[in-house]
Amino acid sequence: MKDIKAVINKYFEQIVAYRRHLHENPELSHEEKNTSEFIAAKLREMGLEPKTGVGGYGVTAVIEGAAPGKCVGLRADFDALPVKEVTGLPFASKNEGVSHACGHDVHTAMLLGAAHVLIELKDEFKGCVKLVFQPAEEDVLNCGSVPMIADGVLEDPKVDAMIGQHVWPQYTTGQAAIRNGAMMASSDRFHITIKGKGSHGSAPEDGVDAIVIASHVIAALQTIVSRKVSPRDAAVVTIGTIHGGSRYNVIADEVKLEGTSRNLNPEVRNKMPGRITEIAEGVAKAMGGEAVVEYFKGYSPTVNDPGMFDIIYGVMKETLGENAIVPEMSALGGEDFSYFCERIPCGFFWLGTRNPEQEFFPIHHGGFNADEKAIPTGIEIAVKSALAFLAK
Ligand code: NI
Repeated sequence: MKDIKAVINKYFEQIVAYRRHLHENPELSHEEKNTSEFIAAKLREMGLEPKTGVGGYGVTAVIEGAAPGKCVGLRADFDALPVKEVTGLPFASKNEGVSHACGHDVHTAMLLGAAHVLIELKDEFKGCVKLVFQPAEEDVLNCGSVPMIADGVLEDPKVDAMIGQHVWPQYTTGQAAIRNGAMMASSDRFHITIKGKGSHGSAPEDGVDAIVIASHVIAALQTIVSRKVSPRDAAVVTIGTIHGGSRYNVIADEVKLEGTSRNLNPEVRNKMPGRITEIAEGVAKAMGGEAVVEYFKGYSPTVNDPGMFDIIYGVMKETLGENAIVPEMSALGGEDFSYFCERIPCGFFWLGTRNPEQEFFPIHHGGFNADEKAIPTGIEIAVKSALAFLAK
């Protein structure tokens, strides 16, 4: 087998050029027309025959090995965020107010890089690798993986397993993390409307104060995580917005709250809509008002298959050394890779991309910039894990 590190290094400059082009030209979820065309054009230059328009702007391509066998998917997302970039990079976003603050430019460049490497190695493996370039990962209620699945991305050839990754600035370049089981959380949204009755601010007895009710509802919702979820199960209930009232001396008749609920355990997650509704309705009723709860299910938890965990962990150990693997980590962020995990065995990992000499910015911050020196590591783990699955 050819030396994979050497093959990656041969293409490194080109992969960085892909990344910088994508970084400079970010497009929001469902608007990634140019990004999609760029990906397809690069795949054609490599001699592949990409399929475009897969469930929207999705692009796929298949690299066949030397003999028939299983098929493994490698997935990268490619949408950007409505975040103003403040990195000051020479290749900073040219699309005002939009940027690759989640590092999906790096994911896409790494998958194009993996394509170069796998094409060079194709006489050395059996089966095939399906490259899955996915749009709209950031749109929780209308995400890109679901229409790609509906459009047959897991069929023809049938995909037996899938591997995905995300850049992770909490860890330095050369580190990586993976967990056996739930790696990322479900991501649900809820809206609560509290209805009271307006009156003069000096005469609360004539009204029902929706602001006071809302404050009790918010405090009571925090008891779901502290008193109704086992301390061994990670969960979050956050109220992100509160709007109500019209004037300093008027009792508010209505307050609107918006929040998010996150869980790693699907069973706990399924109880959340009921708990949130009971508390909001019960507290409001006890205080003479009314609460209306709307609950919107977003991403499912991203749960790694034990077999895929073993493969990827093994590759990481061999590639980075055991000390560079951050053990047992999970996060309450959401990821629509979860819909692939619900259907076929999947493995998802985080790639350390922090340059310790630069100021730290988390993902979704306008200052975030992934260290390009991490790119070869991300490609190496993905390619070796894919080949290890096909060889099994
Ligand atoms: Ni992301």
